[in-house]
Amino acid sequence: MPCIICTTTTNLGYMKRIVILTGAGISAESGIATFRGSGGLWNNYRIEDVASPNAWRRNPRLVLAFYNQRRADAAKAQPNAAHKALCELETHYQVHVITQNVDDLHERAGTTDVWHLHGKLREARSSDYPNLIYDIGAKPINLGDVCSKGSQLRPNIVWFGEEVPAISRAASLSAAADIFVVIGTSMQVYPAASLINYVPITTPKYIIDPHIPNLPAFRNIHAMQGKASVIVPQLVQQLLDAVQKKS
Ligand code: OAD
Repeated sequence: MPCIICTTTTNLGYMKRIVILTGAGISAESGIATFRGSGGLWNNYRIEDVASPNAWRRNPRLVLAFYNQRRADAAKAQPNAAHKALCELETHYQVHVITQNVDDLHERAGTTDVWHLHGKLREARSSDYPNLIYDIGAKPINLGDVCSKGSQLRPNIVWFGEEVPAISRAASLSAAADIFVVIGTSMQVYPAASLINYVPITTPKYIIDPHIPNLPAFRNIHAMQGKASVIVPQLVQQLLDAVQKKS
């Protein structure tokens, strides 16, 4: 006979909510460079030269070249075991992925609800009309490419010093998390790094990274040290087993 919890899950549609914050580390094993640490992009480029409104004003050609290369790299990359494992959670949980990544590997792996805090490489937007956004796939943006109103197109990326439009939705999701998972981020960039502060104290928080970032002493933290492609499938199995055991 099914237990009350399973009956509730099936009949009333209640599923626990898992909120997952990801950073560059989850895509590292797909061949996409992280930002910090050895081999990180910010060792070879200065943020103020390629990822800020000032950079765009000073040298748009360099900014476009930087993101055209990132877009080409992301288009060649494939989702890895970590991206794929997260999708399996959707069979038994409500899953919301909040990512700082600008690649689309979560979507290509099959995750349904993905919030991009820092924008998307495969989109261009008007430099004068921010609501004019175009899906450009893997194509480059060049000087002279314009929106329907004639303004230069730029990458639809949130640069340093710009607002993060998805942050209020991300904060609400974090505040409603039954389980919170952080994967592959150094937690050095705000406001993304502040989302963990919204998570209820009693909510279990899993941190997956080969170098566990320094975090304030939260309750219910489970540090799982290692590469995403190895540890994420283990955690997913553990979370799925927990649901099965209750039924
Ligand atoms: P970082 O480069 O700062 O941090 C990457 C994290 O991934 C580090 O903690 C690594 O230890 C970890 N890592 C490396 N390999 C991993 C693996 N195989 N599995 C799991 N973790 C691994 O990247 P983010 O924290 O994502 O913003 O950076 C945040 C933001 O800073 C980016 O979105 C970008 C950047 O400047 C903008 O450009 C606006």
